[in-house]
Amino acid sequence: MAQAAQQRTGEAADRAREAAVEAALGRLGLDAKTRLLSGQDMWSLPPLPEIGLPSLVMSDGPIGVRGVHWTADDPSVALPSPTALAATWDPGLARRAGVLLAQEARRKHVHVLLAPTVNLHRSPLGGRHFEAYSEDPFLTGRIGAAYVTGVQSGGVGTTVKHFVANDAETDRFTVNNVVSDRALRELYLAPFEAIVENARPWGVMTAYNSVNGPTMTEHRHLVNEVLRGEWGFDGFNVSDWTAARSTVGAVEGGLDVAMPGPRTVYGEALARAVRDGDVAESAVDDAVRNVLRLAARVGLLEGAEPVVSEPPAPVDGEALAREIARRSFVLARNEGALPLPGGHRVALLGAAARDARVLGGGSATVFPAHVVSPLDGLTAALPEGTLTYAVGADPNEELAVADKGFALRAVCRDAHGTVIGTGTAPNGHIQWMGDDLPEGVSHDALHSVELTGTFTPRESGPHTFGTRGLGAFTLTVDGQVRYDDVASTDTDDPFISFFGAPVERARVELTAGRAYEVSLRHTVTFPEDAPMKVVTFTLVHQEPRRDPEELIAEAVEAARAADTAVVVVATTERVESEGFDRRDLRLPGRQDDLVRAVAAANPNTVVVVNSGSPVELPWREEVAAVLLGWFPGQEGGAALADVLTGAHEPGGRLPTTWGSLQDAPVTRVTPADGELHYTEDVFIGYRAWEKEGRTPSYAFGHGLGYTDWTYESVEVAGSTATVRLRNSGERTGREVVQVYLAPVDPDPARPARWLAGFATVRAAPGESAEAVVELPRRAFEVWDTTTGAWRLVKGSYEVQAGRSLADRRVHTIIEA
Ligand code: BGC
Repeated sequence: MAQAAQQRTGEAADRAREAAVEAALGRLGLDAKTRLLSGQDMWSLPPLPEIGLPSLVMSDGPIGVRGVHWTADDPSVALPSPTALAATWDPGLARRAGVLLAQEARRKHVHVLLAPTVNLHRSPLGGRHFEAYSEDPFLTGRIGAAYVTGVQSGGVGTTVKHFVANDAETDRFTVNNVVSDRALRELYLAPFEAIVENARPWGVMTAYNSVNGPTMTEHRHLVNEVLRGEWGFDGFNVSDWTAARSTVGAVEGGLDVAMPGPRTVYGEALARAVRDGDVAESAVDDAVRNVLRLAARVGLLEGAEPVVSEPPAPVDGEALAREIARRSFVLARNEGALPLPGGHRVALLGAAARDARVLGGGSATVFPAHVVSPLDGLTAALPEGTLTYAVGADPNEELAVADKGFALRAVCRDAHGTVIGTGTAPNGHIQWMGDDLPEGVSHDALHSVELTGTFTPRESGPHTFGTRGLGAFTLTVDGQVRYDDVASTDTDDPFISFFGAPVERARVELTAGRAYEVSLRHTVTFPEDAPMKVVTFTLVHQEPRRDPEELIAEAVEAARAADTAVVVVATTERVESEGFDRRDLRLPGRQDDLVRAVAAANPNTVVVVNSGSPVELPWREEVAAVLLGWFPGQEGGAALADVLTGAHEPGGRLPTTWGSLQDAPVTRVTPADGELHYTEDVFIGYRAWEKEGRTPSYAFGHGLGYTDWTYESVEVAGSTATVRLRNSGERTGREVVQVYLAPVDPDPARPARWLAGFATVRAAPGESAEAVVELPRRAFEVWDTTTGAWRLVKGSYEVQAGRSLADRRVHTIIEA
């Protein structure tokens, strides 16, 4: 259908849905309206039978769709981390990821995906960095818009989050981020604005933090005036979980839905506020309209045509996860070691090569049906007898979830000790929120939960057991009570049971291969003032610690006997996660020592970095190749084999500068007196590195492939830049052509240059290609704080095209 005709049909459908929304609204009384704005449980809104509206269900996001249960029994496809998706620099791939996620959402009866996360990589210390895309607002907006378009093309809503300036985790519930209008507009709001304009998201999630005073769930200016007023956002605005704190403040600040329920500041409290004359009923109607519009779009509102009546063609999730992973891997250095020559004997080293870290922790967690580790992937890809494996170094210095060798289930009992139900306990972790309890179990009857089953160690020696969570615990291993006490805390962080540090409780000598009885019993309590009833605790465990020197020596031995050594280094769940920020960028444990020792023993040492965000690589010039592999999702090991063997080219380019913490320009993530001042203003990421004149380890946009490219020219006609380049290497390849804009007369108030556009080309050896890149007007504008509007900055600009921010190959000058 021609575009104009399609638009007319779209507008007519919008009008029809609006009419259905108004009709439904007219049939609702005040109590029903306010009920609809308040979560009924952890993930859903109450149904309203009076208008034939079923319950609307939401779920995290962003790398998969977990669904309403926190359990491995309900598995989900796990795609690579958002940093990886951004590293593909490929909006087409991001859109396809979205289509798959819509398919997953439909399979799990989810109507709204709580994603994407489009906060910026303001500082590399941000603990949740892996869950956002980039330090650059333009790249973030392009990937985010494509993702939203993909999800919504499957008829499932999105909530672009966390609006706005939730760029770190420290004190996230209370921090007031003090940000200039310019930095807000040019950096932090920019991805939200681009996504609203280009993808029309059906939802936004407002953040925990405050910005320049008001908390984001009560931010009349940014929500009502900017997001809805200036940008024309017509979706629904849901609070981040437990972020809504005041009835009147929230409704006046443009918050439509308070989550989770059943106890929120909306519902009955909102109805009362209207009756008391504190809130106008029209404000409630506005919020209800937004929710009903969402319900209409996803196909839940009687009498309204959903936006998508025919779901897109099915997507193969495993194949897509593998494709995104290999397209995201950034080959940061290659002195000829990759691809691996055929027949090479390979020593694979590192704990993460066997126990891969495929996703980041916190609300983004999903449970994939299987995980392909690097060891699995290379075992399948290399000829038999050519691969050896050694642990080398174990970065897990703390206790981690009980996922290796444990077979546990949960047994629920009442106060008399009678069993009232049983459930699963994936990784020794219980997380039952609201009514999501095992069958037959009610909050009133539930007195204790026991994790019980067996543990079969894969190593002999002293095994450490511990707990995460609060309350009374009894730990029994091999028939003996090892701990029996009450765990308490002095922090008031409501998520401490999810993200708090694991605590060691017992050390027990065990023999490999024998099945031992294990039990952790927890007495359940429900605090009166909690917004919802939650049962959450974890059995944590650590394998016997072998002498680190011995482990390294073993790895060196294996490396010596091989033609190539592949070392997989990684962060852990205690380093990168939602809930806290990082203290440093070092690889935990003895991993740096391992790499150095292996590199000294084998000149063909390839290091694969398994982290969601930047880490320091002090040995990077001493090794033959460095491949940055992110949290690569469930098919990561297969994708790794694809690129190491050369079956595919690693396609990624850095969406964020990688450098040392000492050189990093923006490192303050801890508020002082409740405030975090963004004193660096518009200079974050590469904008800051350039301003400070510092050279990072790897520049923004950097990434090698398996072929070479010769850039020939860049020409600009109107707003279109055309870049000509040739594949001057020996194999077919794909190049991300990046276009930067640099004012010819430097202006200290503006960055030296910034990303204005990018495009991908593919060419065979010797073949030429043309990248056509639109330069948006916004690339030439600044936010003028005196007029409160965008202003085009006239003058001469150099248009620079190349392989990365630091490797610009051709340029031309234009006038704006
Ligand atoms: C996170 C959100 C998430 C929500 C629901 C919050 O703690 O900040 O990103 O969507 O929980 O799990």
